[in-house]
Amino acid sequence: MSEIIVKKSPALCGNVVCSGSKNAALPILAATILTEGKNVINNLPRLTDTENMFEILTALGGVCNTNVNTAEIDFTNCREYSASYELMTKFRGSFFLAAPILSRMKRARISMPGGCPIGNRPIDLHLKGFAAMGAEIEKGHGYVDLYCPQLKGAKIYLDFPSVGATENLILAAVLADGETIIENAAAEPEIADLANFLIKQGAKIHGVGSGTIKIYGVKRLEPVTYSIISDRIEAGTFMSAFAITGGKGRIDNINPVHLKPVTAKLTEMGAEIDEHRNYICIDATKPLNSANIKTLPFPGFPTDMQAQFSALLCETKGSGIIVETVFENRFLHIGELNRMGANIRIDGRSSFIEGNKHLSGAKVNAMDLRGGAALVLAGLCADGETRISGVHHIKRGYENLCGKLRSIGGNIFLE
Ligand code: UD1
Repeated sequence: MSEIIVKKSPALCGNVVCSGSKNAALPILAATILTEGKNVINNLPRLTDTENMFEILTALGGVCNTNVNTAEIDFTNCREYSASYELMTKFRGSFFLAAPILSRMKRARISMPGGCPIGNRPIDLHLKGFAAMGAEIEKGHGYVDLYCPQLKGAKIYLDFPSVGATENLILAAVLADGETIIENAAAEPEIADLANFLIKQGAKIHGVGSGTIKIYGVKRLEPVTYSIISDRIEAGTFMSAFAITGGKGRIDNINPVHLKPVTAKLTEMGAEIDEHRNYICIDATKPLNSANIKTLPFPGFPTDMQAQFSALLCETKGSGIIVETVFENRFLHIGELNRMGANIRIDGRSSFIEGNKHLSGAKVNAMDLRGGAALVLAGLCADGETRISGVHHIKRGYENLCGKLRSIGGNIFLE
């Protein structure tokens, strides 16, 4: 089993380039099922999650050719309405396949995603939306079976602005009969990216980002060439890496608008940040202050950056409180940070973090993707050596994290 080894590093310095967004790539790859013909996807991140998605698409009948950060996916033939249970349970993003398979094949069999370390992660909002659009739903033996000869437009109110449910319902609606209105929709940039991909193919989608999305079903979508947005969470992780080491540098290939809540928080803490059209400069060479943070749906502070900021607040001046409102169990990294000398107390959905802690390297375990990134950040500024196991979690969502951090001065290796 591989481990990441991080040693105390100097203040990070230099340029680092962001990869394509994982959370945009997964639904866009799933969406290729809706078109007959070859889509070309650029700025694609090469991660275990995207590799697993290719495996499933191939099992369904897609012809996938990948070359570095580009993929050609030809779904002239879609043969199957289900992939193997083992493949689908490898990652939660497989549930994005429900709507495209149902729309194309008139039935779909998807594995129940079940619980995951950060929370229960139900799919009730997805299923309620499919039912409103006319789908029959059966659950059993670990699967959800969906049937519908023709999805019909419907008015759907989401109890919570779920990212995945909003995306799945857009995917169900683009080729449905009539108009679908999704109210209390999520507004994350990755949803706009999926919508832009579908609009380029000929879909009619309005209001993305506003909370009310209207989709007018069309008869068919045409294959296109499309470039995925870059990964705002990867960029935020690099900003945190500069900040935790007191460094300065530039993050290329990123839209600063997607990072507003992270930039605002780091600025409040004392970092100097310059935003440009497709890059961000950060100077965190002056000591940073602590801050209080509450995670919220976009444009609030992203839950996917909570763990990285938990590590950062251990090193800043003063104490901070982080309230996690999106997932019920997203503090798995806290015990591991405490093992490295942090003083963090959890009470319900809040964590109380004492600053100025001078962390020390230890053997720690990544238990989820972003928690793993937090341990890498902690390792960069901790005295001595930090050995991180559970590396497969980190590989799900970061392309070449060790190499990129090494290129800006990080003392980090994959063993
Ligand atoms: C997506 C992102 C994930 C990010 C999260 C929140 C992908 C592949 N993953 O996950 O990185 O952390 O958004 O920004 O894009 N919920 C329900 N019922 C449902 C669906 C969700 O109760 O049917 C709840 C969840 O349990 C959670 C909250 O809604 O508490 C938010 O989940 P959601 O926005 O759906 O997250 P994902 O789409 O799973």
